[in-house]
Amino acid sequence: MNDFPLRKIDHIRFFVGNARQSAFFYRNAFGFEVVAYAGLETRVKHEAGYVLRQGEITFVLTSPLSAAHPESQRLITHGDGVMDIALDVPDVSVAYAEAVKRGATGILAPQKLQDEQGTYEIGSILAYGDTTYSFVNRDAYKGIFAPGYKSLEAERYSPSTARPVGLAAIDHVVANVEEGKMDDWVEYHRRILGFTQLQHFDDKDISTEYSALMSKVVQNGTGRIKFPINEPAQGKRKSQIEEYLHYYGGPGVQHIALITGDIIKTVSAMRDNDVSFLRVPQSYYDALPARVGPIREDLAKLAELGILVDKDDEGYMLQIFTKPVADRPTLFFEVIQRRGSKSFGKGNFKALFEAIEREQDKRGTL
Ligand code: FE2
Repeated sequence: MNDFPLRKIDHIRFFVGNARQSAFFYRNAFGFEVVAYAGLETRVKHEAGYVLRQGEITFVLTSPLSAAHPESQRLITHGDGVMDIALDVPDVSVAYAEAVKRGATGILAPQKLQDEQGTYEIGSILAYGDTTYSFVNRDAYKGIFAPGYKSLEAERYSPSTARPVGLAAIDHVVANVEEGKMDDWVEYHRRILGFTQLQHFDDKDISTEYSALMSKVVQNGTGRIKFPINEPAQGKRKSQIEEYLHYYGGPGVQHIALITGDIIKTVSAMRDNDVSFLRVPQSYYDALPARVGPIREDLAKLAELGILVDKDDEGYMLQIFTKPVADRPTLFFEVIQRRGSKSFGKGNFKALFEAIEREQDKRGTL
C-alpha cells in the first residue's frame, strides 16, 4: 500500500542560534513578513520562535533560551539549520500510526494543542540524520500559526513595513546524505510516505574535473512535494556534499528552492537587500542561446544577475543559488521560476558545481 495522504508542506522549522536576528535577516533580505512570535512574553519558557510568511511559504525560526532545552546540542553539532519539515495531512493520528507501522521512528506522538483559536494537531517521525518530518493539521485552528504563538506588537517587525520580493511557494527541499545511503533514503520515502522516484542523476551527469555527486528525486502522489536526495560520489577532490556532511555533522537539508513568478524582479530585489548569489562565468551566457533556444527573458539581464536557464521537453526554467546563509558551508537557498519545465536544472549542474568549487577553494575545503 503506497498511498499516503500528504497535502503540502505546511512549514519548515529552522533551529538557530538567535531567532530574533535570523528573523531580521529573512525579513529584510528575503522579504518575509514576521507574522507571529512565541517566547517569554507569551509564556513559552524554554524557547523563542518567530513565524515568517511570504506567499504560501511559512518558515519558523526557533532558538533555545537555555542549555536545558532538549535540542540545544543541535547548535553545537550543526550550527543553524533545518530541524523539521512539517507536512499537512488530513488526519495526524492516522498518518503517524501508518508511518510508524511502516517502519518510521516516532519522535513525537500525535498531540492536540489547544487555545481560544481552536485545535492544532502535530506528530513527528525521524527522517535523515536528526531531521524530522512532522504531520500537522490546522483544519480546526483559526489562529495565525499554532497555540503559544501570538501576532507581533507593532513595534517589533511591523507587518506594514515588510517588503516582499515575490517568493510564492516551496518548490523542493533537498537532502544531503552519506555516500552509499541515497538509495536507502529513496526507499524510506517510498516505503513510509508512498513517494515515487521522479528522476535520477548519476555521477556522470553531475561531475566536474574535481568532484561528483549522485542525486535522486522523490515526490508524493500528487507531485506537490518534491525531495531530491544527494550523496557524494568519488572524485579527485572533496565534493560539496562531503563538505556539507563535515560541517553539518551529518545528513541534513542542503537547500530549499523557492518559486517566484518573476525571477528577474525577485533576484533584483534580493540583491538590493544584499543577498549573495553564486556566479557563473560569462562563457555560460555565450553558450546559452545554442543550448536552450529562444526564451522570453533578456539574456543580458540574466547575465547581469547571474540567473541560470535550463530546458526539457516541456519548457524551460530559470534558477539561481544563494551562497550559504550562515557561517558554515551548509544550508543555502535556490530561487526558481518555471516556464513549463518540471526539471531540476541538469544542464546547469556543471557550471553550478564549478561555481561552488570556486567557493570551496576560497574556504580551503576543496
Ligand atoms: Fe534545487
